[in-house]
Amino acid sequence: MENLSRRKALSLGVALGLVGVAGPVPAWASTGPANGAAAGTGPEWIWDDAADPLMASMIDGGHVPAINTAWASWVDNNDPLPSGLPTEFTAYLRQVNRMPSWADPAKLARAADFNRRKDTYLFMLYGLGSGIMSTVIPREAKSVYWSAGGADMQDRAAKTFTFGYDLSQRGAFEPTGQFVVTANKTRVVHAAVRHLLPQSPHWKAVADETIPISAADILVTFHSLGTFVHRKLLDWRIPYPAADQEAFLHSWQVAVHLLGVPYEHIPRTWAEAEAQSARVLTPILTPSTEGIALAEELLGLTAQIDLGVTRGFLNEFVRYVLSDEVGDWLGLRRDYAAAALVRTVWPAFILFREGLSPVMPGTFYMFDQFIRAVAMLFLNKGSSGTTTPITIPTGNRPG
Ligand code: HEM
Repeated sequence: MENLSRRKALSLGVALGLVGVAGPVPAWASTGPANGAAAGTGPEWIWDDAADPLMASMIDGGHVPAINTAWASWVDNNDPLPSGLPTEFTAYLRQVNRMPSWADPAKLARAADFNRRKDTYLFMLYGLGSGIMSTVIPREAKSVYWSAGGADMQDRAAKTFTFGYDLSQRGAFEPTGQFVVTANKTRVVHAAVRHLLPQSPHWKAVADETIPISAADILVTFHSLGTFVHRKLLDWRIPYPAADQEAFLHSWQVAVHLLGVPYEHIPRTWAEAEAQSARVLTPILTPSTEGIALAEELLGLTAQIDLGVTRGFLNEFVRYVLSDEVGDWLGLRRDYAAAALVRTVWPAFILFREGLSPVMPGTFYMFDQFIRAVAMLFLNKGSSGTTTPITIPTGNRPG
């Protein structure tokens, strides 16, 4: 555990709803059939054997600009692989651009329907919860900040939204959907980052690892997204039947697998995911110079767009979903009137919105506008044009 005492980590876990008692077991033990307890065999020792050497040679050979141009028109899952790619790159895509045999189409269809039914909450939670949480996951914050994309957070946030947007679409995994392509592009970008960041003197000066984005790191990020959202939906008492829960988990299992994480390391149940999250995510959350800068950029970015609320309200909403501790780390200025409003009216608003209470909160309109604006932010950024705008970087952030 880095900068937090165990007690502090537990209280933060309670605040985030990511509780679990981290006993003396190794962090990755007992999750999935492969426990990886022995040093050198767990997911923190797994990167991407298929994509990493390929991307190292694509970058060193100067092929990336041509790949970026060629794959711009590769969007739908059933699009043919684009022409104009280096032969080895095409061979790689042919090998990985497919659904795993264990993917369950019925569950994925249900997940898509669930995503559509609950999209506003999902956008709020991914955007203002997971998005800001990523800035207090030190490895993620440092790699995002020092990679090329860190220099333009608006663009990066837009590309990242594409992932969530494509995942949330009806038919995302079907031939006419786009998610399999988006996930494959992301996997390749991560492989490029593994080759590039170790060449950044800035990243090397702050990193506690020699190669970024291990399978363990990807699982940590999955918990900040899927597991976090799952827990919040339950905590907020949003109707969320067991079949939806299972379907939502399954869509994330497939997504994480498409990002290159071996099946045996992917949690099988939400209980397993929550237990793993309590061991590997909650205790590592801590501020960093890079994370504080990224959070300010992200929140400044959303404040530029009229969300119908003040920056103080936005800060308090983030504090509400992520805890005051995280809000203090990030220096989010307090607005006690907004805090009181969020904490009292938001739960009532959800009950009303879900048809569970006939009492309409007086500030219903404001909350409604707020979630619509966040959803639009997500949708506009996520669907700008018809192509998936993910591009492979060729360098790092200069400084
Ligand atoms: C790029 C999603 C895990 C660091 C991307 C992109 C997406 C994405 C969609 C492409 C968009 C862009 O270029 O910005 C995800 C998802 C993850 C995950 C869904 C796990 C479930 C991680 C982890 C790290 C990381 C664990 C680091 C610890 C980065 C970096 C880039 C990137 C540095 C490149 C940004 C650039 O272009 O410079 N990720 N990611 N990601 N990701 Fe991830």
